Amino acid sequence: MTGHYGWQGKRVLVTGGAGFIGSHLVEQLARAGALVTVLDDLTAGCRENLGRANGNATLFELDIRQVAWEELLRKEQYEAIFHLAANAYVPPSVERPAWDYAINLDGTFRLLEALRGTKWPGKLIYASSAAVYGNPARIPIAEDDPTVPISPYGVAKLAAERYVAVYGQLYGLKVASLRFFSVYGPRQRKQVVYDLIQKINQNPTELFLHGDGTQVRDFNYVEDAARAMMIVAENGALQGEVYNVASGRDCSIGELASSLCRVLHAQPRLLYSGSVRPGDPEKWMVDIKRLSELRYRPQVSLEEGLRRTIGWYRETVARSA
Ligand SMILES: NC(=O)c1ccc[n+]([C@@H]2O[C@H](COP(=O)([O-])OP(=O)(O)OC[C@H]3O[C@@H](n4cnc5c(N)ncnc54)[C@H](O)[C@@H]3O)[C@@H](O)[C@H]2O)c1
Repeated sequence: MTGHYGWQGKRVLVTGGAGFIGSHLVEQLARAGALVTVLDDLTAGCRENLGRANGNATLFELDIRQVAWEELLRKEQYEAIFHLAANAYVPPSVERPAWDYAINLDGTFRLLEALRGTKWPGKLIYASSAAVYGNPARIPIAEDDPTVPISPYGVAKLAAERYVAVYGQLYGLKVASLRFFSVYGPRQRKQVVYDLIQKINQNPTELFLHGDGTQVRDFNYVEDAARAMMIVAENGALQGEVYNVASGRDCSIGELASSLCRVLHAQPRLLYSGSVRPGDPEKWMVDIKRLSELRYRPQVSLEEGLRRTIGWYRETVARSA
């Protein structure tokens, strides 16, 4: 549960709302009674992801690079905009930096310009990323630590969150950015949790892992990550501040693999490559004090989150294979 903030009857816009995190946010907003508009070009997201929003979400199939933002904002008074539409991954930004820039930075900038032009009175919550830190200078990572991104994706996310903050200060917009660390859960068909489930499913006798299993990460269940966005909208100062969004629990890759095997009732032989991919930090622990001060508490344990993710995987991915 979020606080006592009344979302009931409030109009809310979620860009990227047909995607992984966005669709869980839309679901929670709809459950709280909000009237949700989703703006998504469906390049990575899909209509089916909105199936559980109980008809309380309207989809505009639009590209954020081409939206007539001012017109859209004048037509409807949105209480809040959650901006998640983006290229959400590092590797494609390395392959196609100009494309990533156009969506992630210019796309966000165009939205901000329209908010300035219309003197928009609502709240803007921006989905940034842990990629802004690059290789963390110290552990646990806190919001005031140095930001030295090492990918075009990280640079665009950092520049966008700085624009968000400066527009907030200069033009009186209510804004905040959330730096998501590894989010996992149903509807995500990428990243380590999904990859490991796939691998164990395909070969339950042997599981190959990069490194030696000791690298530490923070895995946050998607419903908790989505709820964090609502909590910041409800309780945040909205003066351009940034928040780490993570579970605050450390988990090694070896522990993750063991938990997955337990939930899947599989006992594969674990094989480690021994070497870590260059640039992959050894330990990635996160300080979530700032978000906790807004009364954010992760509610889904890793084991429970993995159980739900595997349940989804069995019902959808495995069934359609
Ligand atoms: N998943 C994570 O672990 C993670 C970590 C850090 C940051 N983030 C950020 O959170 C946000 C959501 O990520 P996600 O994991 O749900 O990824 P996702 O790819 O599932 O969601 C992004 C959504 O944006 C839409 N989109 C892409 N380009 C668009 C465009 N030009 N116009 C309109 N819509 C467009 C896609 O169709 C998709 O539905 C992104 O901004 C991402 O950078 C995610």
